[in-house]
Amino acid sequence: MTFRTLDQAGDLSGKRVLVRVDFNVPMQEGRVSDDTRLCAALPTIDALTAKGAKVALIAHFDRPKGKVVPSMTLKPVVEPLAALLGAPVAFAEDCIGPVAEAAIADLPEGGVILLENLRFHAGEEANDPAFAAELAKLGDLYVDDAFSAAHRAHASTDALARLLPAYAGLSMARELEALNKALGSPERPVLGIVGGSKVSTKLDLLKNLVVKLDQLCIGGGMANTFLYAQGHPVGMSYCEKELKATAEEIMALAAANNCELLLPIDVVVSERLEPNAPYFTRELDSVDESERILDAGPKSVARLNAAMDAAKTLIWNGPLGVFEVPPFDAATVAAARHAATLAKAGKLIAVAGGGDTVAALHHARAASDFTFVSTAGGAFLEWMEGKVLPGVEVLEV
Ligand code: 3PG
Ligand code: MG
Repeated sequence: MTFRTLDQAGDLSGKRVLVRVDFNVPMQEGRVSDDTRLCAALPTIDALTAKGAKVALIAHFDRPKGKVVPSMTLKPVVEPLAALLGAPVAFAEDCIGPVAEAAIADLPEGGVILLENLRFHAGEEANDPAFAAELAKLGDLYVDDAFSAAHRAHASTDALARLLPAYAGLSMARELEALNKALGSPERPVLGIVGGSKVSTKLDLLKNLVVKLDQLCIGGGMANTFLYAQGHPVGMSYCEKELKATAEEIMALAAANNCELLLPIDVVVSERLEPNAPYFTRELDSVDESERILDAGPKSVARLNAAMDAAKTLIWNGPLGVFEVPPFDAATVAAARHAATLAKAGKLIAVAGGGDTVAALHHARAASDFTFVSTAGGAFLEWMEGKVLPGVEVLEV
């Protein structure tokens, strides 16, 4: 894959650059509660302002469905972004039209403005060419730095990129490079960890991974469905029994492609899913009818850690147990710390992504030592499924 990069953009002084960022950030009571995605946009903004460009940031927030929903304004992003940049950030109440046009014209060279939520206009999600043309009037160049929104073929990620000279931003480029290293052309052996509760939401992902990876560890609630398909008792565990045949199909596909599946070999059970509920470690065939499997057991973790020791690359999506409810976070925390230690020592390329996964890695205090942690949720999953992301495809040259 090749993209136009910012260093090929030529003289930018006084040029208006429309930068698509993903500021769909967690907010609590109208305040940004996690600034990861703001931080991800800083290198591109800094690079452009240093060249004297006028930077107009375009972004969506939440799902207002084409109407102005005042609680879904992007205004709360302005202050924390300005603090991170160490420079003022202007704001325009609309992302198209005379208001936006005048505000961008008023920017000094090297100035930054954030435009109001793109999704206040129905044309954004509809990928409407007329709406994209309105956006295109505001810029001389377009930069996409929103990998985490690249699975959406919306006006700001697709149609607009066809109307202006389009470049990949630094954060976008970094994501693509890291993800390609992990799954596109990885150093082998390559090990995957897929967890989470449902097989049904990760079918495409599992099917794509078993043909590409050397080993795949399956954890979380979805492992129960596989254990059930293998004939092990799962008691009262969350289990998609109706997907028995699907689990069998995935196991057969893995075998046919020489991908070794690492299913739990022991489990942690409890009768209740509550913090610090009484729990037991069980061999696979000793799960009682009244018990629920809530985490992988210590033998499973030891085997996974040994697999990490032997692997060159790890790609991780989804927790191994109910990590939100201790002590059922134990397997996830232990494996995350092991991966982090190996990555920090330069022995493993460890890449992770997806909302829950990133929360789990932060909970384990392991995220900062991973080789790369994606900012993306849905886009990371679709990429792991082997799908073409429209917002990436349109940037290819
Ligand atoms: C995300 O938060 O995953 C992206 O910003 C995409 O948001 P969406 O799922 O509302 O399209
Ligand atoms: Mg999402």
